[in-house]
Amino acid sequence: MAMAAKNLLVSLSLVISSAVLFPRTEGSGDRGVLGQSQREFDYFALALQWPGTYCQRTRHCCSSNGCCRSYPLTEFTIHGLWPDYDDGTWPACCSNSKFDVKKISSLIPTLEKYWPSLSCSSSSLCHGGKGLFWGHEHGTCSYPIVQDEYSYFSKALDLYFKYNITNILNSAGFLATNSEKYFLKDVIATIENAIGASPEVVCKHGSLEELRICFYKDFKPRDCGIRSNTLHSSFVGRSSCPKQISLPSYSPLMLELGNATVTWLVDGGLFSPA
Ligand SMILES: *[C@@H]1O[C@H](CO)[C@@H](O)[C@H](O)[C@H]1NC(C)=O
Ligand SMILES: *[C@@H]1O[C@H](CO)[C@@H](O)[C@H](O)[C@H]1NC(C)=O
Repeated sequence: MAMAAKNLLVSLSLVISSAVLFPRTEGSGDRGVLGQSQREFDYFALALQWPGTYCQRTRHCCSSNGCCRSYPLTEFTIHGLWPDYDDGTWPACCSNSKFDVKKISSLIPTLEKYWPSLSCSSSSLCHGGKGLFWGHEHGTCSYPIVQDEYSYFSKALDLYFKYNITNILNSAGFLATNSEKYFLKDVIATIENAIGASPEVVCKHGSLEELRICFYKDFKPRDCGIRSNTLHSSFVGRSSCPKQISLPSYSPLMLELGNATVTWLVDGGLFSPA
């Protein structure tokens, strides 16, 4: 594309849409953050959290914490759709555009259900300050493949619905339980058979905590583990899991939460009316 046209496109898209791009710092399995010069990413990872593992550790409740709902979360939930480089690093803080929750207002009920924060801490944002869990997940670094905030969140949801990992595992007999362990290789093979690519798995104390499925930039599944040169030793991938892993269930801390979803949202600080 001609330079001028490309520049125009970039400026237009920054005006029309603003997506977020904040470093991921929540949860385990975090990896280092790249420095200044950033090129276009290589692939996407859809990171899914296993609530049983996160929520078993909940000691502290607040209205924005999905673990604190009165019913337990029994499906993998979305952590983020992350643009990554093949070397194990990823781009971060790709533009100054601010996360605007109003741009995704029609998605909020779905996001609340399938993309809840599983802790009470607010996310640290790129340009200082604290914000929503959603705000800290990547948006702008996915440019130009995903062009705006709305597309970013709806694409992540589409992939999540299309590759229903909870269903894939349940159908193969991997059910949430605190009394049984499963062979890691069987869990991985089940996902490989279902989606045609290998996932990346992250464990905490022997429990499956996060599962990532990876995509080429055209959103066809690809293996997650193609990394020539892993720069960050904190990137542990499979090695954080023992041979046998558990898929725990949990009982929510029964805290009084307010009576309505709207309360939950406002209370959780999601909206900051201008
Ligand atoms: C995924 O599959 C499970 C189990 O079959 C089902 O209960 C659930 O509704 C599905 N989730 C989504 C997001 O489609
Ligand atoms: C929730 O409902 C109960 C009884 O219906 C009421 O007493 C309480 O004040 C309500 N709490 C909130 C946060 O609205």
